[in-house]
Amino acid sequence: MQSKCHSKLIGNDQLCLKSSHSMFENRMMEKGQKVYDIHLFVCTNQRPAPRTGCGDLGSMDLLTKLKLEISTRNLEKRFRINKSGCLDMCEKGPAMVLYPQDQWFFHVKAEDIPHILDEICS
Ligand code: FES
Repeated sequence: MQSKCHSKLIGNDQLCLKSSHSMFENRMMEKGQKVYDIHLFVCTNQRPAPRTGCGDLGSMDLLTKLKLEISTRNLEKRFRINKSGCLDMCEKGPAMVLYPQDQWFFHVKAEDIPHILDEICS
């Protein structure tokens, strides 16, 4: 049975969305496991003055500390820490969000990192 291709023109290339999605699904099914249990997205967005983004509030240092702490705890295979753009919580920055748990952390400071990881791992 031939499936209908939902396609989209991107530049001069015709991208078959359904075909791409199926290949992704098959790859995941073959592995039979999740790639990571947890993704933590850390906003590192910077904003021009007078507004302040998480990146202006030291979130890159938080990201470095998180990665070090994850490595120290030997959790690299379970956790993925990613930089993100604006999470639309700028007034509560530095902001982080955990997926798939949809758990948010606001006004994060370096000294909060061990407690945050304790909470995530409990
Ligand atoms: S700049 Fe970080 S949430 Fe908007």
